[in-house]
Amino acid sequence: MLNSIQFAINYLFYFFTSGTKHSVHSPFVYDFVCKVLNVRKNKPMYHEFELVRSRMMKSKSLIKILPLGAAAKEEETVPLSRVARRSAKSARYAELLERICEYFQPQIAVEIGTSLGISAMYQASALRDGFLYTLEGNPDSAKVAAFNFEKLEFKNIQLIEGNFDDQLPALIEFLPRVDYVFFDGNHSMEATLKYFELCLQKAHTGTVFVFDDIRWSDEMYLAWSKIKNYPAVTVSIDLYAMGIVFFRKEQEKEHFVLRF
Ligand SMILES: C[S@@+](CC[C@H](N)C(=O)[O-])C[C@H]1O[C@@H](n2cnc3c(N)ncnc32)[C@H](O)[C@@H]1O
Repeated sequence: MLNSIQFAINYLFYFFTSGTKHSVHSPFVYDFVCKVLNVRKNKPMYHEFELVRSRMMKSKSLIKILPLGAAAKEEETVPLSRVARRSAKSARYAELLERICEYFQPQIAVEIGTSLGISAMYQASALRDGFLYTLEGNPDSAKVAAFNFEKLEFKNIQLIEGNFDDQLPALIEFLPRVDYVFFDGNHSMEATLKYFELCLQKAHTGTVFVFDDIRWSDEMYLAWSKIKNYPAVTVSIDLYAMGIVFFRKEQEKEHFVLRF
């Protein structure tokens, strides 16, 4: 993980070099910037999800965390409030995921890393006929997420419990295709590239992949740099903390760094 000085330098570089809609010539990306990136909506359901988040952030319950991802070292028991504060996407980014799902309306969506279910609820709420498969390896987190999905009566989320290394290959084998994947767990280069290549097997010209924490570490940035250069990837959008890639065959390969 980078230290705060490296983060600050990287962010300043991003801030002064990133473009806006005025620097985008591709109609597809221009539309995406105007209709998805640059519009913040205030939907009533956001309040429901944020209520769930704030309840968990005040909770005194303890949960066990297994050492699964790149940052984890050993098993620990921690307050639920800490997990809610640290692992879930902020409302700003969760809303962006919701808008991406609303805009592209994937039928088959996958999330790698459920944690307590905050980002899953945002994404699934945008799907009119689509279905979200979300994977989580930490049993206590999965239990809380399942409780949240049930409480808010989600019918279009399937939570798959188990290590990504076992569950993701089985899920990808089972699915006819993937229309959308949010990669948000196990932030090592090796795992990120492995999960990307697995999902790529079922990607098509309309598929969207979103990667979280692309600047979380040098390794993650290297993984992102490799991913955007894959021959199958045509358009990539770097939003500093998140990266989005598209496989549109009709589009020339182009990489955008955009202000968000
Ligand atoms: C950053 S959190 C996900 C946050 C969630 N997407 C949100 O914004 O609400 C990443 C999750 O991935 C899980 N995870 C990490 N490595 C894993 C692995 N190898 N197998 C299964 N789960 C894993 C962790 O337990 C953690 O809950």
